[in-house]
Amino acid sequence: MKITIIGTGYVGLPTGVGFAELGNSVWCVDQDPNKIETLNNGTVTIYEEGLEELFSKNLKSGNIKFTTSMKEGLADTDLIMIAVGTPPHPETQEADMKYIYAAAAEIAEHLSDRYVVIATKSTVPVGTGDEVESIIKSKNPMANFDIVSLPEFLREGFAVFDFFNPDRIVVGSNNEKASNLINKLYLPFDGKTKMHFVSRRSSETIKYASNAFLAMKVHYINEMANFCEKSGANIFEVAEGMGLDSRIGNKFLNPGPGYGGSCFPKDTLAMAHMGRKFDVDLNLIESTIKGNSDRQKQMAKRILNTIKDVKDPTVAVLGLSFKSGTDDCRESPAISIVQELLFLAPSLKIKAFDPKGIPMAKTLLGNKVEYATDSYDALKGADLMAILTEWPEFKSLNLDEAKSCMRKNCIIDLRGMICTDKARDYGFTYYGIGK
Ligand code: UDX
Repeated sequence: MKITIIGTGYVGLPTGVGFAELGNSVWCVDQDPNKIETLNNGTVTIYEEGLEELFSKNLKSGNIKFTTSMKEGLADTDLIMIAVGTPPHPETQEADMKYIYAAAAEIAEHLSDRYVVIATKSTVPVGTGDEVESIIKSKNPMANFDIVSLPEFLREGFAVFDFFNPDRIVVGSNNEKASNLINKLYLPFDGKTKMHFVSRRSSETIKYASNAFLAMKVHYINEMANFCEKSGANIFEVAEGMGLDSRIGNKFLNPGPGYGGSCFPKDTLAMAHMGRKFDVDLNLIESTIKGNSDRQKQMAKRILNTIKDVKDPTVAVLGLSFKSGTDDCRESPAISIVQELLFLAPSLKIKAFDPKGIPMAKTLLGNKVEYATDSYDALKGADLMAILTEWPEFKSLNLDEAKSCMRKNCIIDLRGMICTDKARDYGFTYYGIGK
């Protein structure tokens, strides 16, 4: 079928490439002419494992096309997916719906009596489907369409894997015709995944409730890490023991500097705002938001504490992206920690390295830090190695070489990358978390 994806970001592009790979004719529409030109020239605009080869293959085969023209993108389409951003409103922190509503209004102008399903793929507040439906109906009473909620559950860094290996497909639909079209779309997944058909509002809620729960789970294990530090336990042993209980599961129990990224922070804020809007106490989510933000400030203080006796210290920061496997530094705990370090110690010298995140980090930190070409370049002359993102290459650092680069031999490891005993055997002073 012909599918039109509105928005070619971290959700829209992998989704469009995935459906093209499954044999659909996919048009991706974006307002950014530079992005569309780059994509049409065959250059993928985000880093995702496995995306580039599928993107190039389907661009060459003509299964996927890119345009800034909504008219061109929507011509004879069967299914429209709205995958534009819903960032936190700068003042209220609620999900800013201006991009969703603008896309709905523009879509309305190009609809006719030819039936089309419009799916909200972006993470949208409960009730958005009703809003989008009324916007389109008022703009174009002749339009023949149904709105469904089709939330994405792609993890950054695993978007291609998650697209082809979904745990479930949640479909929020109030109409059998629309549900049948979505069923047809997912026929290639037949038997491999569960199709979960619910009401539109339930589908919209599932997305937020899932992300808020996962964020809470991450914050919980970070609170347990603090407890273990004081009680003499070892958080990695505790997390493993907890995860062996199938009711808990072993995922999202890795302690660290707190959660970040373009989803958990905004989705927890939006969920808390919806709680206040519906006059429901979402205390667990509210305290998760505060606790996670406080943790990044705590981690910055810990880093400064390890170099408090060093004259004119230099810190080598390893990791700037919000997690390994992605170039995305939006709401990255590593970036927040660096910003807090520079706020608390403006004269601190920081040399930073990240395998993929430096281009985006530069837009956030500018020249406040020095950017290194690799880990050892960052470590040159440094008094402290601060591991902030769990890139595998930091786990396999040559500690002999690292020691020879550094001025003082101190490691603070906020991701549990390096074994304490190994670090100490190489003569490092080692500070970890959760033990
Ligand atoms: C998340 C959801 O997982 C995904 O389903 C949804 O579609 C989008 O939001 P993403 O934001 O890409 O995906 O990253 P995720 O892998 O969920 O990690 C979120 C944050 O939690 C990251 O900062 C990560 O470092 C942190 N995290 C995750 C931990 O600190 N510990 C963990 O065990 C897992």
